[in-house]
Amino acid sequence: MLKLKLNLKKLILVKNKYINFDYFISTELNEIKKKVNYSIISNIDLNKAVKDLNNQGFYLVEKVFDENLINQFEKEFDYVIEKYNSTFDETSISNSSQVRIFNQKNMIKDKLYACSALFGNLEIKNIIKSHFKKKFIFNSDIFFQRSGPTKKPLASEYHFDILNSIKVWLYVDDCYEDNGPLEVVKESFKQNKEIREVSYKNLNKISNVSNIQEHQNTLKLTAPKGSIIIFNTDLLHRATEIKSNFIRKVIRGHSFSEKALEYNYELQRNYTSH
Ligand SMILES: [Fe+2]
Repeated sequence: MLKLKLNLKKLILVKNKYINFDYFISTELNEIKKKVNYSIISNIDLNKAVKDLNNQGFYLVEKVFDENLINQFEKEFDYVIEKYNSTFDETSISNSSQVRIFNQKNMIKDKLYACSALFGNLEIKNIIKSHFKKKFIFNSDIFFQRSGPTKKPLASEYHFDILNSIKVWLYVDDCYEDNGPLEVVKESFKQNKEIREVSYKNLNKISNVSNIQEHQNTLKLTAPKGSIIIFNTDLLHRATEIKSNFIRKVIRGHSFSEKALEYNYELQRNYTSH
């Protein structure tokens, strides 16, 4: 009787879980996943990534994926931008469309096989783990962002994120000076970490925008398509101008510590209950 009950429980659990048979039987998914994982293992040096992330707040590796795979990523990118409504007003000054996908299941449903493999990759998870050490939510939000020419892209002021995260960026297109690459202020992350941690403790809101101007120890993270940036959002960063006739296509995954999410929850509660 007990055994029957346990089996029934198991069955109900399985039934309530989303099952997508593509995940088990699609040869296309398995092939793409294998290629993506192989490219990451071959081109991302785990030790260097952990060291760079820890010492300079970011790790950049060029051309992780070959032409074939990057075409796959681009196909998936274009599909998402075409299918879903942007969370931004595309006619605004930022000239961007952005789509947010919340989890792996939705990516499999949409046959975003390369993206699912990248944002579920265990080597990348280990790199991120080295930063958080404690519990974190791995790539809980995935963003697809296409930006056209603009002098004022989204997040164009130097800032650090109030909720600390590790972001994984994939440049789907070449991202050189004219495409509006991510720009960071070197060595800024340690100081911001201290400010942020006090805010976590005292549950207060902080000003996270910096008045640092250009060319003060800054670095534009330019790289060809297929390159990956993994960075700590305690680092001051901003988006830069996209020149006319240029675009920028980026897919990003955000990972948060439980501490950051708790702080966010408590903060919202504090400010809405008064
Ligand atoms: Fe940011």
